[in-house]
Amino acid sequence: MQRKKLVVGNWKMNGSKALVQSLVQELLALGPWPSDIAICPPAIYLGQCEQMLAQSDLAWGAQDVSAREGSGAFTGELSANMLKEFGCRYVIVGHSERRSYHGESDQLVAAKALVALAQGLVPIVCVGETRAEREAGQTQAVVERQLGAVIDALGQRISEVVVAYEPVWAIGTGLTASPEEAQAVHAKLRSQLQAASVAAGQVRILYGGSVKAENATELFAQADIDGGLIGGAALKAKDFDAICRA
Ligand code: 13P
Repeated sequence: MQRKKLVVGNWKMNGSKALVQSLVQELLALGPWPSDIAICPPAIYLGQCEQMLAQSDLAWGAQDVSAREGSGAFTGELSANMLKEFGCRYVIVGHSERRSYHGESDQLVAAKALVALAQGLVPIVCVGETRAEREAGQTQAVVERQLGAVIDALGQRISEVVVAYEPVWAIGTGLTASPEEAQAVHAKLRSQLQAASVAAGQVRILYGGSVKAENATELFAQADIDGGLIGGAALKAKDFDAICRA
């Protein structure tokens, strides 16, 4: 099945009003791209992105969402419908930095994906093993458990998400999984999706972890790698543009 590539920039906790202004302007001048492209700035800049990107084919999304539905006394939380109101198409859930620094469990990540989907957002579900887990031969078991929790919550609707495989040891370290290592994990994730949903062939599985212009082409050429989730390199317009064209 032919899947359109998707490249998403995860800005993490970087930026300022001035940086959003300049980076988005530079990106708009560099587009359009042959793939689907989105940026996920810190949530406080989503309104600014909405204003700048409304007439473009560059989509935007958030880096996290509350697992709570509707509204209520949940200090600091942002609901899926709030993100939707600001025009978000995507929301990242279960990034390893949320799992490790905020203690997010597989079940919480699954609940977030469910709420996001219910509000018409596309969850980008992140999975990935730590270095210790890889060295202990647990890579497959870990990502299967993480994705399995989301499949349990979403059922057939799992075909509507984007999955991102981000080996934790490759994030921000300059180390990248080789195209073959990444493809092996992506193929297993694809089989797991296929066992859960007849429409699994349409799910885009992104690779993330030190993706740069120099390694993107080879990674994205793999059969089950449908694009990338980009951290550091998404903060420079020329670098991000090069990856979007890889
Ligand atoms: P880097 O591209 O900086 O390694 O970050 C990857 C990532 O965590 C994207 O979500």
